[in-house]
Amino acid sequence: MNTGTANQPFRFTHISDLHLTNPKAALKSLWMICNKRVLGYLSWQYRRRFLHSPSVLETVARAACSDGDHLVITGDLTQIGLPEEYRQTCQWLSRLGSPANISVIPGNHDAYAGSSWRECIQSWKPHMSDRMPEQQDQPLWPFVRLRGPVAFIGVSSAVPSPPFFASGRVGQDQLQRLEQMLADHQSRFRVLLIHHSPVAGHDSFRKRLFQRSSLVRILQARGVEMVLHGHNHRPCWNELKTASGYIPVIGVPAASAAESGPDEASLSRRGSYYAYQVAQTDEGWCLEVTAHRLNAEGTAMDLVWCRRYGRLPALSINSWIISQSARLSTSTAAS
Ligand SMILES: [Fe+2]
Ligand SMILES: [Fe+2]
Repeated sequence: MNTGTANQPFRFTHISDLHLTNPKAALKSLWMICNKRVLGYLSWQYRRRFLHSPSVLETVARAACSDGDHLVITGDLTQIGLPEEYRQTCQWLSRLGSPANISVIPGNHDAYAGSSWRECIQSWKPHMSDRMPEQQDQPLWPFVRLRGPVAFIGVSSAVPSPPFFASGRVGQDQLQRLEQMLADHQSRFRVLLIHHSPVAGHDSFRKRLFQRSSLVRILQARGVEMVLHGHNHRPCWNELKTASGYIPVIGVPAASAAESGPDEASLSRRGSYYAYQVAQTDEGWCLEVTAHRLNAEGTAMDLVWCRRYGRLPALSINSWIISQSARLSTSTAAS
């Protein structure tokens, strides 16, 4: 494991919304879907299984793993959160690499129904903590993992929600601990991992993050260098305003997305990973972000854009540079 040192540049990668499991193979009894899961199962059977491809995921995840010293996964690894689906995710994660090099947080699909979710999520513990055995009974979230100059801080916005909702909530207990954690690690480049975006108006009512403003107030007061999320399966680039500048809030398309349409909107949602290079200079933090998307043949990754920020957290927008812009019309326009 290369955890780097606090004053060396550190490179890590980000994927999300893997939806890698097969609920048909995971279904032991129809009783298991006699709840909200029946809707998710039918949605997977008739629609979602054609949108997510295991081979796309394999290509994207392998490339992401080899492009950095740490990989973060921002939720929705499963379809309807069945216990057997969790076993499938654990097998897949163990093939990908060491838990020390991969951090995972859950998404709304991983907490699809209240039954079994609290027990199942324990199986991801090795990917959510560096805690010593005597600390194992502490709450799972927020967790912090220190790698080089970076503090990865993971929170869970995954909560079982009513039928037709895909909403999230962080909750007061997590928020209180998060506030302290951000203060404890303010000398680091703090990266908040969360499944739902904290940006206002980002998601529809039924898919949004509830109690969003409480989280944003803490981020603005305590500071955070960057927020990474998933959930809506498309490239997202936003900022949260603070007293000292802007916090980049970045969402990545689903890693398994098999979008094949020729239009730019379809292309932009194809299986992707983002890479982040963090370095500390005399003037403050520097951040370079590169986006990598599955090529048209589905065989390898294309570099689609690159942006550079300087002097974070007093973010200077004018310092970002775009390269490889020929391949990227929608994403650059969105910024
Ligand atoms: Fe998702
Ligand atoms: Fe989601």
